[in-house]
Amino acid sequence: MASITEDPVAEEHELTRALGPWQLTALGIGAIIGTGIFVITGHAAASYAGPGVVISFVIAGFGCLFAGLCYAEYASMIPVAGSAYTYTYSTLGKFLAWIIGWNLVLEYLAASSVVAVGWSGYFTKLMGQMGIHLSDALVNAPIAMQKAMTTAGGCAPSDSGSLAMNFVPTGNVANFVAMAAILVITAILVVGIRASARFNTTMVIVKLSVVVLVIAFGLPLIHMSNLTPLIPPNTCAWGHFGWSGVLRATGVIFFAYIGFDAVSVAAQEARNPQRDMPIGILGSLAICTVLYILMSITMTGLAPYTKLNVAFPVFVAIDSAGPQLAWLGVAVNVAVVAGLAAVMLVLLLGQSRIFYAMAKDGLVPPLFSRIHPRFHTPYVGTIITGIFAAVLAAVVPLDILGELVSIGTLAAFVIVCFGIMVLRVRMPRAKRPFRTPFVWIVAPLGIIMCGAMMYWLPVDTWIRLAVWTLIGLVIYFGYSIRHAKPPRWHIVQEPAE
Ligand code: ALA
Repeated sequence: MASITEDPVAEEHELTRALGPWQLTALGIGAIIGTGIFVITGHAAASYAGPGVVISFVIAGFGCLFAGLCYAEYASMIPVAGSAYTYTYSTLGKFLAWIIGWNLVLEYLAASSVVAVGWSGYFTKLMGQMGIHLSDALVNAPIAMQKAMTTAGGCAPSDSGSLAMNFVPTGNVANFVAMAAILVITAILVVGIRASARFNTTMVIVKLSVVVLVIAFGLPLIHMSNLTPLIPPNTCAWGHFGWSGVLRATGVIFFAYIGFDAVSVAAQEARNPQRDMPIGILGSLAICTVLYILMSITMTGLAPYTKLNVAFPVFVAIDSAGPQLAWLGVAVNVAVVAGLAAVMLVLLLGQSRIFYAMAKDGLVPPLFSRIHPRFHTPYVGTIITGIFAAVLAAVVPLDILGELVSIGTLAAFVIVCFGIMVLRVRMPRAKRPFRTPFVWIVAPLGIIMCGAMMYWLPVDTWIRLAVWTLIGLVIYFGYSIRHAKPPRWHIVQEPAE
């Protein structure tokens, strides 16, 4: 018996089922490896954890593994577009689905902006290497977040310093390079999924090659002195080095793992989603976790962590290795520029598909699900997403957006882990092509670890999440609740023996 029933009303233009297991895994890697490892790792090491950022990667990796296992079960049961949003709509009702969908909008839309900003850092560096110097005013946001450590006196254990964060004008106009990148990718997405998947696979190969090259040639050259102490002593403020810094960095570099769930967003475009979704989600997550651990050791081992708070920390790390690795410098910049383009592509693709699903359910206006008659893509949602992401990328600094994306995504993961347990109780006989192993341990651990990573993030991030949620609630009660349709997908239970 089929595990789901579909809305019997045939859709005029369906999305094309073009993706196999390799392409789905590539889609996952395409979304995962990006600004997180190439940029945010440097920021997290320099500001919070020092070389201990590798421990942050291990902790975050476990949190994602638990959430990923729950995702895989959900995705195999309800292989339709829309990711965790759709699963929740079908099982836990429209309100929770809206909350999760709204957080996913934050995840995909704002994350693509973060990646575009990261991309612009490497692109500008690459142009510089080619003798073309772009004005700072045109490749940076007009505001920045300034972090000042305040302590309540000396550094006795009882002192409770804090990191004060203020916005300061930078004197720059906007990041036009990041903006242009988003608009070009949006145009590619409007043209079609087949072309997009091919583009993505090529970019993923380029990106993986450079990560492997940096690890293979950089790891033997690291200086143990850069890695000692692994966890620099705390400076009185919670989250500013020491173990608390490692924990805070976990929430920050979590951004680097975001994207494995993008595989599930493409379920409606997969040839055999029941089998291939779990392969794509867990496979891409496993590959990236191993690479991140090795890459973060390599980066902080090659250069002192204090030097890594720049827009292109991988390049700085290679540069610190001296002439032996000079040949890698340009290659890295070229590959990162190509690789980050793939991340933007998958994230923007994910966002348009989430809007597509939400529009089909009536939670956002129907124009978001309008399919292009020739290209068969949800072009209106794609274009609207692209415009918003481009504006964000132009004006908001990377660290603010990155932390906001992390907290929103973590909130979505908590609900997914919770939902999978609810479903086991409510629908014990539903067909589950993939079952989360040890679900009663894995799902609670996922909730605890993702919840902890949220808790460890700076309090400003919580305030921004609250504002975002408030805006979401206004839209929900103002529009969605009146237009919501019954779920289009129902899980069918096997008859009792
Ligand atoms: N994980 C993706 C990145 O690091 C979003 O860019």
